[in-house]
Amino acid sequence: MANTLPGQETYLLSRDRAETERLNKQHQFLIDLLGYQYIHPSIPKNQLTSIADLGTGNGIWLKEIARTLPSSIPPLHLQGFDISAAQFPPQPQFHGPGKTWILLSVHDILKKWPAEHRGRYDFVHIRLLTAALKTESYKVALKNVRELLKPNGYIQWEEVDITTFHTDKTPQIPAIAKMSQSVRHAMIKMGMSPFAPQRVYEELCSSEFRNIHRQTYTTKGKEYLHDAAQEWVVGVIRALVVPSMVITGEAMYEAHAKSQAEVLVAEFEEHCKHALPLINFTVVVAQL
Ligand SMILES: C[S@@+](CC[C@H](N)C(=O)[O-])C[C@H]1O[C@@H](n2cnc3c(N)ncnc32)[C@H](O)[C@@H]1O
Repeated sequence: MANTLPGQETYLLSRDRAETERLNKQHQFLIDLLGYQYIHPSIPKNQLTSIADLGTGNGIWLKEIARTLPSSIPPLHLQGFDISAAQFPPQPQFHGPGKTWILLSVHDILKKWPAEHRGRYDFVHIRLLTAALKTESYKVALKNVRELLKPNGYIQWEEVDITTFHTDKTPQIPAIAKMSQSVRHAMIKMGMSPFAPQRVYEELCSSEFRNIHRQTYTTKGKEYLHDAAQEWVVGVIRALVVPSMVITGEAMYEAHAKSQAEVLVAEFEEHCKHALPLINFTVVVAQL
């Protein structure tokens, strides 16, 4: 359920086993959507020596990038940070052809990094913090990213927005409008932005970063992604619409929200028999 304690972090999602499994499946879907480009083509991959993933969750992105990047001497330094260790693998792990160690540490993106991490990374990756950051926190997060980066280092920040529940068929069914509205209202009530990709882009444009690119990868016209996109949206309904309905007061208890969400899942799945879920996943890259 949503983690919202007074004076502590704000996070709409849970960190249980089901959520860890959802993050793994989500990773595969998003990488398929990007056409297996982990790092945007505008960034020279062969010059990277030290990579940080912020809000790393269970570290799936780092694990996969270790598998896809060629081995190097000295080995790549791969470091994940998350405000919670709840989804970290139990043991430190090493992966990929270079048997690269993946180091995972607890750290809040909104706090200053310890001295050993400042100026250490030439690439910082962030994916899907939309349910974790308040609108005003994007600026603070980017300021802290700047401190992690070496001069000329790159950031790649990837987000989806509230259009997530839509499909390529009009008119949209009422279940879609209801889900969008629940999540939008819950996010606004929590002080979050339902338009994270735009927020990231605008903050980068008003910061010291340069060479800013924004590219949206969509499922539109990609029928081969139909089943994976549908499964992803259903995962989002269970993970995000449920806490949203409790926050907005549409459901009194989590159990009540869960049963309402299952009705929405059934309606969405029925609709998708003749419709393609339209997912817009935006990648914003910039250089210091
Ligand atoms: C939706 S998950 C995404 C995980 C991972 N980036 C991925 O794409 O698989 C968001 C993650 O951000 C973490 N998070 C939330 N607030 C954070 C903060 N202030 N600083 C660092 N991590 C945070 C959560 O604990 C969670 O692991």
